[in-house]
Amino acid sequence: MLHVLLFFYFLVSSSHAAVQDFCVADLKAPQGPAGYSCKTPAKVTVDDFVYSGLGVAGNTSNFIKASINTAFADKFPGLNGLGLSMARVDLAPGGAIPMHSHPGASETLLVAKGSVIAAFVSSDNTVYSKTLKEGDIMVFPQGLLHFEVNTGRTPALIWVSFSSSNPGLQILSYALFRSSLPSELIEKTTFLDDDEVKRLKALLGGSG
Ligand SMILES: *[C@@H]1O[C@H](CO)[C@@H](O)[C@H](O)[C@H]1NC(C)=O
Repeated sequence: MLHVLLFFYFLVSSSHAAVQDFCVADLKAPQGPAGYSCKTPAKVTVDDFVYSGLGVAGNTSNFIKASINTAFADKFPGLNGLGLSMARVDLAPGGAIPMHSHPGASETLLVAKGSVIAAFVSSDNTVYSKTLKEGDIMVFPQGLLHFEVNTGRTPALIWVSFSSSNPGLQILSYALFRSSLPSELIEKTTFLDDDEVKRLKALLGGSG
């Protein structure tokens, strides 16, 4: 009898310890490598699991003629710890999402409207590039540099999903020319000349 009671005791206590349905992000607490800490479950509501920010096209009246609207854990707390997230990309004709990478996630991209050239460059500098049409899906392996360009005559809409709730987004030209990295060091480490570095810093808002 005691054995049976002990068995049920361990069954119940271990299942309590092992099962946690979710860990909605507590955005007021600092974020660590494993994500945000969990919001007190009693304070979690359905709105933590719903995000309405991707319903409208982003503003493409800008230098890149494109917009990226992310639904990462910092905006969509219910994603925290679940290992996935989404984004919406709008591209006017001629628009481009500049060369960038997501240090924390692989990406799948679905062309919902229009036609785009999508490409990534692997660690051995091989280029994988393709013109995608409506309904096509492409995958970018984690961490690799990639981009999208709208080569069509109509606006393009792309839905993106990521294998992390916090994929990160690092845009190569912004890291170089929208940062405070001294021009001399940029020239040394990119082989670009001074005029070009200064032109790009003026264009993108870099200092140093
Ligand atoms: C889009 O952005 C441009 C440039 O910042 C701005 O002038 C324009 O008002 C914006 N359009 C909308 C609809 O918000």
